[in-house]
Amino acid sequence: MAAPDQPFRTLAGMRDLLHPETAHRRRLTARFAELAELAGYQEVQPPLVEDLGVFLRVGETTDVVTKEMYDFEDKDGTRVALRPELTAGVARAFVQHHPQTPWKVWYAGANFRHERPQKGRYRSFDQVGVEALGVDDPDLDAEVVTLASMSLAAFGLRRVRLLVNSIGDHDDRARYVEAVRSYLDDRRDDLSEPARATAERNPLRVLDTKRPQDLAVVADAPLLADHRSPASEEHFGRVLAGLDALGVSYELAPRLVRGLDYYRRTTFEFVAEALDAAQNAVGGGGRYDGLVEDLGGPPTDGIGFALGVDRILLALSAEGAPDEVAPSVQVFVVDLTDGAIARDLTHELRAAGIGADRRFGGGSLKSQMKAADRSGARWAVLVGSDEVAAGVVTVRDLRSDAPQSAVPRDGLVAEIRARGTTT
Ligand code: HAM
Repeated sequence: MAAPDQPFRTLAGMRDLLHPETAHRRRLTARFAELAELAGYQEVQPPLVEDLGVFLRVGETTDVVTKEMYDFEDKDGTRVALRPELTAGVARAFVQHHPQTPWKVWYAGANFRHERPQKGRYRSFDQVGVEALGVDDPDLDAEVVTLASMSLAAFGLRRVRLLVNSIGDHDDRARYVEAVRSYLDDRRDDLSEPARATAERNPLRVLDTKRPQDLAVVADAPLLADHRSPASEEHFGRVLAGLDALGVSYELAPRLVRGLDYYRRTTFEFVAEALDAAQNAVGGGGRYDGLVEDLGGPPTDGIGFALGVDRILLALSAEGAPDEVAPSVQVFVVDLTDGAIARDLTHELRAAGIGADRRFGGGSLKSQMKAADRSGARWAVLVGSDEVAAGVVTVRDLRSDAPQSAVPRDGLVAEIRARGTTT
């Protein structure tokens, strides 16, 4: 096959993640795993590709399903899709494996949505999150929201607002949708063209509008609070009492509906103030009682959240959070002979758990020392013919002017351990 006219590049909305961003992501995910496991959640890894039907349950009127799905027919003729989120896959896994309840799981991984790419909005993006299935207890809602809030704080995010709402149970929601639909019908002439189209498909989504023209209409729309049943009110009251007791600050957001259809009762979203309003949601979640049934399982309550890793990293950087990553190479071997010593010493150091590297192709002392500096190593270990003859290596501290010293070659690992490898 001939080479392409232009070198290949990543597809729109897809990125190569390079160091140090990859290191930040890994650290963030590890921290999240730690916090989730402390709270009794275990890891789950649903596949990236599922039967399209699994994801249709996310909501057939939502943008995620109607416009953004990476769906295709695979070689067996099955309609499949890349996951746009993880909740539906986790609920499908619950139905398939019928684990003991409560089933408390955490996950980390990529999702795919064919959105219009912009800063903070990508076609492939990472989430970390949890789902808890099989418990209908508002204290669980408080636990889940608190875990999300603690995680964002642990990542170092400072300026985050937590918005909380209850969209009522299945019947409340149905009544509310009708009330909003009929209100928007009456005000149809005042709505923008896109909002009119949305009102027909999914009236609640109009409430999320950011267009000034529609905001004026939305300001007087019926409030969910007026359509919630006493049972939903009581549930929500206990959730808020839980957040108060656990010291989690929140704002009530009566118009927060979120972009997926499966939500019932508690919904919440975290907004980072350092990001532009169009994509400042760094995470969100809620209850989805009914989703498991929609996927063919028994009636099962569920609640969870997902945090957007890409946006959290953007927000951290916008907040000016420190972004150094400790170098993993601690020793750089500068071999002025034929390279065999660099080959053997780096291996020996690595086998002892000490990060080590060298310059391939040797080169002058100057070029090897330059490479040593670039590696971030604390120690340079120099070997020339004099050292070989004496059975030693020369250890030089790259962070200070301290005099270098000769160390028996066999004692190098012990010497580096004794000196320490930190900066
Ligand atoms: P979501 O609100 O669609 O919810 O996504 C959660 C977070 O993922 C968003 O707040 C955002 O930070 C990030 N995100 C979403 N789309 C993109 C994108 N195109 N580019 C970058 N980041 C993005 C869910 O996915 C639900 N599954 C959450 C949940 C779990 N509900 C219950 N359990």
